[in-house]
Amino acid sequence: MGLSYPYQIGTTEEYHAAWKKSVDDPEGFWAKVASSFLWRKRWDSVLEWNFKDPDIKWFKGAKLNITENCLDRHLGTLGNRPAIIWEPNDPEEHHRIITYRDLHHKVVQFANVLKNNGVKKGDCVCIYMGMVPELAVAVLACARLGAIHSVVFGGFSAQSIADRLQDAMANYIITCDGAFRGNKVIPLKSVIDDALVQCRFVKKVIVLTRTHTPISMIKGRDVWWDDEINKVETMGNPDFPAVEMDAEDPLFILYTSGSTGKPKGVVHTCGGYMVYTTYSFVNVFQYKPGDIHFCTADIGWITGHSYILYGPLGAGATSLMFEGVPTWPNASRFWDIVDKFRVNILYTAPTAIRSLMGYGLGPLQNHDLSSLKVLGSVGEPINEEAWHWFSENIGKGKCPVVDTWWQTETGGILISNMAGVTPSKPSYATLPLPGVQPMLVDESGNEIPGNDVSGNLCIKFPWPSIIRTTYGDHERCRNTYFATYPELYFTGDGCYRDEQGNYRITGRVDDVLNVSGHRIGTAEVENAINMHAGVVESAVVGYPHDIKGQGIYAYVVYSNTHGDEELSRQDIMQTVTRIIGPIARPDKIQFVTGLPKTRSGKIMRRILRKIAELDLDNLGDTSTLLDPAVVDEIKNGRI
Ligand code: PRX
Repeated sequence: MGLSYPYQIGTTEEYHAAWKKSVDDPEGFWAKVASSFLWRKRWDSVLEWNFKDPDIKWFKGAKLNITENCLDRHLGTLGNRPAIIWEPNDPEEHHRIITYRDLHHKVVQFANVLKNNGVKKGDCVCIYMGMVPELAVAVLACARLGAIHSVVFGGFSAQSIADRLQDAMANYIITCDGAFRGNKVIPLKSVIDDALVQCRFVKKVIVLTRTHTPISMIKGRDVWWDDEINKVETMGNPDFPAVEMDAEDPLFILYTSGSTGKPKGVVHTCGGYMVYTTYSFVNVFQYKPGDIHFCTADIGWITGHSYILYGPLGAGATSLMFEGVPTWPNASRFWDIVDKFRVNILYTAPTAIRSLMGYGLGPLQNHDLSSLKVLGSVGEPINEEAWHWFSENIGKGKCPVVDTWWQTETGGILISNMAGVTPSKPSYATLPLPGVQPMLVDESGNEIPGNDVSGNLCIKFPWPSIIRTTYGDHERCRNTYFATYPELYFTGDGCYRDEQGNYRITGRVDDVLNVSGHRIGTAEVENAINMHAGVVESAVVGYPHDIKGQGIYAYVVYSNTHGDEELSRQDIMQTVTRIIGPIARPDKIQFVTGLPKTRSGKIMRRILRKIAELDLDNLGDTSTLLDPAVVDEIKNGRI
């Protein structure tokens, strides 16, 4: 059936042997994996690296185009196989099946559109679209042309888009009139228009019609997707040979939040990212040709990039893309889709599982889920209850559950069991993939050896899809990931290693929240809150939330609420929505007269976190505070 995967691991023994080989001889190991891909020119060296600068080059000197691997090379054997199955938001609307041949054709067409609109190799193109197949086409067309894509999730505000456009100096935008999500229509083009008030450098905006929302189209700048495709058709649909890229040329930028400042643009490059996403996809999910893989993420996040698009397409797989949300029109939607398309692999987030658990087993009735073979979880720690519910009620006890730990910066899954090949353990990501060398360290960076130990999770050797830089600011990349502990990549996560050497990720150890699997920096939310007139200062912490994993708790010092606290709360929420987007809206806002600070003025977040978590008896020593009385006031006002 077309492709085979010579690097697919089939047994626990093979896994251990592959891991050992990848540590003993990383270059030999990855050269062998990489040899199953299509290169225009082979590499001069497999790996050159140091973590000090950092300077990491995989497959140096190699030439390729990732879309030749994801599309062209499948045409001969898999041309008629579905590459993307698309399920629309509204179940009444017809789904679409896009074969590898169709997808190739559409990508070639749209690459010509980009070219006709002035996009060249190395340009940055911002993509702000809903989950429509044209989003996949836009991403791949950029890659074919050698333009760097920067996909921005449809839930971010105009200000967030403007920040990202400015940071990458993106001159081109691809968007939709609007996006359907459940019972909402998100006015994407109108948000872009607001962003562009600040970004006069943008030359072209290509707009796809999806929702028929009225929009403004500015002459000379804004063009319709369909008109541009028509022009290419009247030119006789010329071919668009993939542009030759260096293995280390940037493929894309994806912005993600950290503990300080504005989001940073994580840069991934062509060769290593291609090899690692496909390798990890085939092994973790144990993909077999013909399987239907349904990853429920949005392409605006790394999970969508790596495991809806590049990983599956690199493997010639069939990837199911869903426009809507799990609970609309009702909480059966995922199960309708699994049943309708005979889905084999379902990859989703704990927050979705917990939310669906809340509806009980009713929505599962009359749904045939027997096609499912593998279940996957990503984005945040999965609690045991959700793990068991997923395994028993969705997997009917016969589907392995893979708990996949990774990050935007890692490009692909680093720690996970391999479905049915290595053992699973509820709430544990378990073992590192071949090529991945985790290490636990204490606060001073000393390795914590042995088992049954906890520490900060670092990785001591590069894997092919490791972050290369943060766009336009290499020093920030070094500082954030490679400077905390010399010679190590620091993940920002805390971790426990059990008696058998299984890894369990316990959550972030920095000031980053994980809300419904989305990363949000507390500093970012504080900056947004502080922009609201009347706010003197604020402190944001996370607290346990039944569905979202973590909720956002904001303590706000306010000059005057004019007696209407609720209205002031709503105003602050509105400000955060405007500045960042609805995903960063605080769940709770408590007005306080002061924040607990040390005599040197540092906010004692530990105390605020404990209060938000309702762990009131363990506040620790408060006697060193400037004003210890403020703690009692905050405790008493906990909402
Ligand atoms: O804290 C970890 C958590 O999500 C963070 C990465 O977020 P992001 O870059 O947005 O990527 C999410 C999708 C890969 C990590 O630092 N995280 C991710 N997967 C897991 C997880 N925590 C526990 N278990 C996981 N499987």
